[in-house]
Amino acid sequence: MTSSEQIFNTLVLPYLNHAVRTYESGYASVSDIDAAMRFGCGYPKGPLTVVDEIGAAQVRDLLAARYAETGDHLHEPAGLLDKLVAENRTFADEAAAAGEGAAPQLKHDIAKVGVVGTGTMASGIVQVFAQAGYEVVYVGRGQDKLDGVVGYITKNLDRAIAKGKGTEGDKDALLGRLTGSTEREALGGVDIVVEAIAEDLELKLELFRDLDRICKPGAILATTTSSLPITKLGEATGRPQDVIGMHFFNPAPVMKLVEIITTSATSADVDETVRALTANVGKVGVSAGDRAGFIVNLLLFPYLNDAIKLAEGGEELATIDAAIKETAGFPMGPFELLDVVGNDVSLAIQKELYAEFGEPGFEPAATLVAKVEAGELGRKTGKGFHDYS
Ligand code: 3HC
Repeated sequence: MTSSEQIFNTLVLPYLNHAVRTYESGYASVSDIDAAMRFGCGYPKGPLTVVDEIGAAQVRDLLAARYAETGDHLHEPAGLLDKLVAENRTFADEAAAAGEGAAPQLKHDIAKVGVVGTGTMASGIVQVFAQAGYEVVYVGRGQDKLDGVVGYITKNLDRAIAKGKGTEGDKDALLGRLTGSTEREALGGVDIVVEAIAEDLELKLELFRDLDRICKPGAILATTTSSLPITKLGEATGRPQDVIGMHFFNPAPVMKLVEIITTSATSADVDETVRALTANVGKVGVSAGDRAGFIVNLLLFPYLNDAIKLAEGGEELATIDAAIKETAGFPMGPFELLDVVGNDVSLAIQKELYAEFGEPGFEPAATLVAKVEAGELGRKTGKGFHDYS
């Protein structure tokens, strides 16, 4: 039997190391890395704060012991850990030295928001904007899909009302701000479109070409893709300066994070406007560059993949789930979360990370591949790692 502490060392230490390396590489700031994991995954503390709390020397030594066992480069302690120990510095010191930026301002007027898509993410995003008082035009492929969005939002609002949060009047007002359409032309007058259709590059390229034709000049075109190159979507339009990523998390009405992804062509005004808009809808924005995984998925999915590999070694799923919740305080164990995200989505993300970084340790776990082949995708199919039938 593996103890909870061993499970923590096996799964959480490499995640902490990966967070340190992500900061060390200059990809994101200390505060954005920590905010990303707190607000995107509901973790009680960001990974770099956890390193400070455990102590960089202790984290380095535990990783070194693990590296000696596995020889896996991902377990080799990040060089920055040594440096911090030698200089008696912490990540809190690094964050303080970087300073806080000024609050972002809206550089474009945003009154009307468009959303393309009718799946779980799109429905949640429609709710987020309407809840914040924006008029929302959402576009789907059929009336039944449009009705599904209203059904999703109504269910969430009814649940909130039952808990004494909000009234029937609030619900009616929110639903009154929604306009569904099966025609993309309905997006002609919106100030920003957030696209949340299937993760398929050809589909998205076709959509962005069409949005470029339909949307008024100056309208911002945002995508909530988690794995496709936003630069390519921008290049499909005549306005790459107005194209940006707004990566929401599942469930979008609850998770407070939005990763804001700029390409080298995105204008500073569009970036600032989207950061201000994110704050206006009550979310926390973090900035990252156009690279597979951004911050959260880069740190989250290798950990989930490692959990599957640990289970392949004979550890019980429920034991791993419980140990992680107990030792790390994460709101869900890895297998509970995999089932919420969907094994198909997780496999696609893990494949992207493996392709981008070429780390042998990122190779998708065999069981994840097998689950997808067997159609055991998680809660949405009634069975994933756990059984929901
Ligand atoms: N839609 C809307 N609201 C929901 C919801 C949903 N699907 N699920 C839960 N809620 C609301 C509840 O109504 C409740 O609201 P209240 O606080 O106003 O009463 C609140 O969320 C908390 O819900 P519960 O008390 O029922 O349940 P929990 O306390 O267990 O919280 C959770 C649920 C917020 C989902 C929590 O388990 C959590 O934070 N999980 C981690 C989720 C995560 O890591 N997401 C990121 C996945 S990766 C991703 O999305 C990236 C992509 O690219 C794949």
